[in-house]
Amino acid sequence: MDYKHFARKQIESIRKSVGDGSVISALSGGVDSAVCTVLAHRAVGSHVKVIFIDDGLMRQDEPQWVKQQFAGLGIPVTIVQAAKTFFKALKGKIDPEKKRKAFRHTFYSVFSKAVRASKAQFLIQGTIAADILETKKGVKTQHNVLDQIGVSAEKGYGFHVIEPLKTLYKPGVRQVGRALGMPKALYARMPFPGPGLATRCLGECTPKRIAVVRRACRIVEEETERFKKFQTFAVLLTDQATGVTKGGRRRFGDLIAVRCVDSENAVTATATRLPWPTLMTIQKRISKEIPSVTKVLYDLSPKPPSTIEYI
Ligand code: XMP
Repeated sequence: MDYKHFARKQIESIRKSVGDGSVISALSGGVDSAVCTVLAHRAVGSHVKVIFIDDGLMRQDEPQWVKQQFAGLGIPVTIVQAAKTFFKALKGKIDPEKKRKAFRHTFYSVFSKAVRASKAQFLIQGTIAADILETKKGVKTQHNVLDQIGVSAEKGYGFHVIEPLKTLYKPGVRQVGRALGMPKALYARMPFPGPGLATRCLGECTPKRIAVVRRACRIVEEETERFKKFQTFAVLLTDQATGVTKGGRRRFGDLIAVRCVDSENAVTATATRLPWPTLMTIQKRISKEIPSVTKVLYDLSPKPPSTIEYI
């Protein structure tokens, strides 16, 4: 496939759809929304308003990093602080689908407020083929495919949706990013799910529990940086397990699962054969840097029958 041609076609099509209007792009920092944002910017220049919703569920230092990367491309990004709203919506929710739905609802409600304030008529979003496939199969409710699950964005929220990447899988999206001349740090990034660290925090997502999983994710990312993999992260489980204090007393603490997978397109995946010393370093760092953790586990499950994320 000629990705330069694909990018040109999409740029033309966005320009035609948007006309004299304006478009809003919700940048998450992930490859899909980043590529969409650049396509929209190439199509309509300053008629695209780029917002980054800080939902409090992002990786460490993510909002600042994203803003900086896009400043380098000449694309200004407005950060919308919404962590409190998201934590309020997630409060008390432990069921995975309820958490996803709460996230999705909050996302669109925060976002539609930003859209109305911007007076844009169009929303560009990075739905990809895998999202549509998995939603249709009922594997999960993806937050970013409202149309496919029978909720009309036009009716419910008052704007039109443009999805330029919906025929591509992740490797294709990266190729479009490359063809657009984006920095590798952006187009080669690991996928990060829309509901963010909420997919990596089983049970209730409180600011305190999210801070634990955020720190653990950063450690896992740092220690696996040099290995080829599709995705890597940490997950905070719900139960507590026994540990011992230096003084020899029993105490209950958090359980962290480490996930690192090889995959082509996220439809299937296998656990990465990380070297034992790397796994040991990850365990040592997590136990030392996050004192609430008493056990660190490595997840060996392939997809299927498992999934990559935990909710
Ligand atoms: P699963 O867990 O279903 O994940 O094996 C497959 C891929 O999709 C990502 N993922 C999401 N991406 N919104 C997204 O944009 C979501 O709600 C979502 N859930 C999972 C996941 O990280 C993996 O790459």
